[in-house]
Amino acid sequence: MLKNIKNKLKAVSLFSGCGGLDRGFINAGFEIIWANDFFPDAVETYKKNISNHIILGDIKKIKSSQIPENFDILLGGFPCQGFSIANKKRNMKDERNFLYREMLRIVKDKKPPFFLAENVKGLLSMSGGEVIKMIKKDFESLGYIVDYKLVNAADYGVPQQRERVLILGNRLGIKNEFPESTHGKDKKPYITTKEVVGYLANVLVSFDPQKHNNKLVYNHIARTNVQDNFWGRKYSVSQYAICDYLKFWREKKGLSTKKIDDLFGYKYTAGHWFRKDNNSGSIPNPEDWWRLKKILEFDNKFDKQVTELELKPIKFEQSLRINNWDKPSDTITATGPEIHPNKKRRMSVRECAIIQTFPDNFVFTGSLGNMYKQIGNAVPVLLAQKIGKSIQNMIKKNRIYVN
Ligand SMILES: C[S@@+](CC[C@H](N)C(=O)[O-])C[C@H]1O[C@@H](n2cnc3c(N)ncnc32)[C@H](O)[C@@H]1O
Repeated sequence: MLKNIKNKLKAVSLFSGCGGLDRGFINAGFEIIWANDFFPDAVETYKKNISNHIILGDIKKIKSSQIPENFDILLGGFPCQGFSIANKKRNMKDERNFLYREMLRIVKDKKPPFFLAENVKGLLSMSGGEVIKMIKKDFESLGYIVDYKLVNAADYGVPQQRERVLILGNRLGIKNEFPESTHGKDKKPYITTKEVVGYLANVLVSFDPQKHNNKLVYNHIARTNVQDNFWGRKYSVSQYAICDYLKFWREKKGLSTKKIDDLFGYKYTAGHWFRKDNNSGSIPNPEDWWRLKKILEFDNKFDKQVTELELKPIKFEQSLRINNWDKPSDTITATGPEIHPNKKRRMSVRECAIIQTFPDNFVFTGSLGNMYKQIGNAVPVLLAQKIGKSIQNMIKKNRIYVN
């Protein structure tokens, strides 16, 4: 283990999915010796593109003795739904019983020199920051130096805004290092969506691989449930004006945004109505408007503009279409992609895969929905590769075990 940096560093991968993180680590020069996931289509994709070393099964049922010994890094993006703050009855003690404990168990039993976990940005604010503190402390109690960092994939040359938390630990007593960003202000220009997938706009979607510019294009298939019409507001209405108006009435009532969130019974929603900004502010939908009116008791000034709707044809610029064509794409999610800017279809599986920096010959298997899911779940390959390289540099710089 880590005897000679010239030898490939060995990794074990948990929650591997279709292998975005693993593919990137392989590109960086690591060897993945064992992997696991319980999502059959993702495991099939992994086998097809990476290797048969992946085991299909629930990690909770896999004993540590079934996992190989002597590897250099444990990789894993543990799902964090278990930490949900929605369930207020759960206390911190119970919350520990979720999937990250599996990662903790394997780190404890195998003691690899390094571990790396990737997770959603929301992990940092769960239970007011207590969850990330608990994770850090738990790994530290096993003798690891643990650091975490919020990164945005676009800053690393990925054509996508994707904020994720990286948690890196080592038990070698060295400083953890994360890769330096390369793109953005005063750095290289961001990679745009159009740059990477623009050429596919005129390639017909098809289940079969197709030839384009002497290259085979795989998985260029897409959901086509795109409607020509939508229910839109009958009258034009300014988000700024509505925001000022609602703020005025909220303050008049002496209510905080948080109080309104609580009254509506869901978190982080009402805040948008009091945020004056074209990107993240929003106008309440008619149903919410009437509820809000009961709470704030405002006059009728904007009732008509906000609540009267009509069926309108969808136009090119409609917000449900991908709106970052000339910028890095919005986050590719596991639930379904945005609509193509000028086609009557959603972004194709291949387009999503390209935005997630999967190589062109990485072929996905399963139903359309499950292919989108595998891709949306993945760590962008390029980001993973840069993380892998920076871990190798840490080892070289600290001259650890290098002959
Ligand atoms: C966010 S995805 C990881 C994606 C992966 N890191 C990549 O880059 O492609 C989380 C994965 O955890 C898997 N998973 C969730 N619970 C599991 C369990 N109990 N046992 C094994 N895998 C599980 C899911 O099927 C999913 O593929």
